[in-house]
Amino acid sequence: MYDTIVSFLVYINDCLKKGTCVSCLIKLRVIMQIYLVGGAVRDELLHRPIKERDWVVVGTTPEHMLRLGFKPVGKDFPVFLHPNTHEEYALARTERKVGKGYKGFTFHTDPKVTLKDDLMRRDLTINAMAKDDQGHLIDPYGGQKDLSAKLLRHVSDAFQEDPVRILRTARFASKLPNFTLHPYTVQLMRAMVKSGEVNALVKERVWQEWVRALAEKKPQRFFEVLRQVHALDILFPAIQRCPQMLTRLTQASRVTDSTRLRFAALLSPLASKEIVNLCRCYRVPNCYADLAELSSREYQHYLDFNIHRAKDILCFLTAMDALRRADRFKDALDLYRILDERSNVDKTHSLLFQAVLTIKSVNTDALVSQGLRGLDFAQALERKRIAAIELLLKA
Ligand code: CTP
Repeated sequence: MYDTIVSFLVYINDCLKKGTCVSCLIKLRVIMQIYLVGGAVRDELLHRPIKERDWVVVGTTPEHMLRLGFKPVGKDFPVFLHPNTHEEYALARTERKVGKGYKGFTFHTDPKVTLKDDLMRRDLTINAMAKDDQGHLIDPYGGQKDLSAKLLRHVSDAFQEDPVRILRTARFASKLPNFTLHPYTVQLMRAMVKSGEVNALVKERVWQEWVRALAEKKPQRFFEVLRQVHALDILFPAIQRCPQMLTRLTQASRVTDSTRLRFAALLSPLASKEIVNLCRCYRVPNCYADLAELSSREYQHYLDFNIHRAKDILCFLTAMDALRRADRFKDALDLYRILDERSNVDKTHSLLFQAVLTIKSVNTDALVSQGLRGLDFAQALERKRIAAIELLLKA
């Protein structure tokens, strides 16, 4: 309320300075209004926790927002951060794409753009609802109806302005797995794919949506929708080629929420080199890429080594870099637990963890005092470690 009054007074002051009379302003309905929009409205109606709140501001200018103390953000849009809450406030706009050479506030905004205009240019009807400060829902494009009908439907042809929406829609399908795509939305997305829009997607943006989809209820639906709109072959040809990848992802998502494990499970049928290339292509962070590459590379080793032979155990732990990368080793074993159907998995894993502790406790003082160095030291240490694991196996 305080914000509204302050902004009102600042705005009136600005306009009076420019020579506009108050009654004209009211007639023109250009006095600033703020609405809650997008995901927060959708999630509230779905009775889901609200992650962040986005606001749209109607009837004002960037200059006015700055005078109110809002901080400008973003490269492309007239978006500001609230000085206290740091939530995002975007000016209502009809154009989302800006020309080249855009800098700071040289974009075009117009205080006469209405809330309805702004909502029409959003992606899906379920994301194109707003709430005013009295809590009234503003839903000009049937978002609520589509929520009840469990439909992902584009709001208007403006959907095509942004190819990221193909990924977003696929992600929403993984978040809301019992929702289906409206046939016209499928058509529109296919047309966008056909016209080459998907090829223009920035790789990091693909990864952002991909990893968010991995955190959702049914991550495999992200890829199924991409396949449905003919984008899978372009973005993820490996998944198009190898159905086992989605089977592994489905398996993993039933038992773990970890996006790193889900990612590694998805990529697990691929050869190590393919994983490296795919991760490089999408600039996948190392903590994801490393686990996926290592666990795929060593899976056969894991299946084949003899758990009753100390030397085999040491060799496997060394290949996994288990001593130095304990967390990654644990993640890899968690993944193997998902993939490995043998009955003795628990016993094997518990022995492996004990073997790591055993190796760590091997005292190297004697080797140092013997003056061993280099290869001699390494070989003597290996013998000591094998002996320690043998004792463990006999225990
Ligand atoms: N939006 C859009 N097109 C995009 C990105 C966003 O139309 N490419 C609109 C949608 O109305 C969306 C809102 O901007 O609801 C906010 O976007 P964002 O915060 O990125 O996503 P949410 O819809 O809030 O989804 P989530 O809660 O999953 O982040």
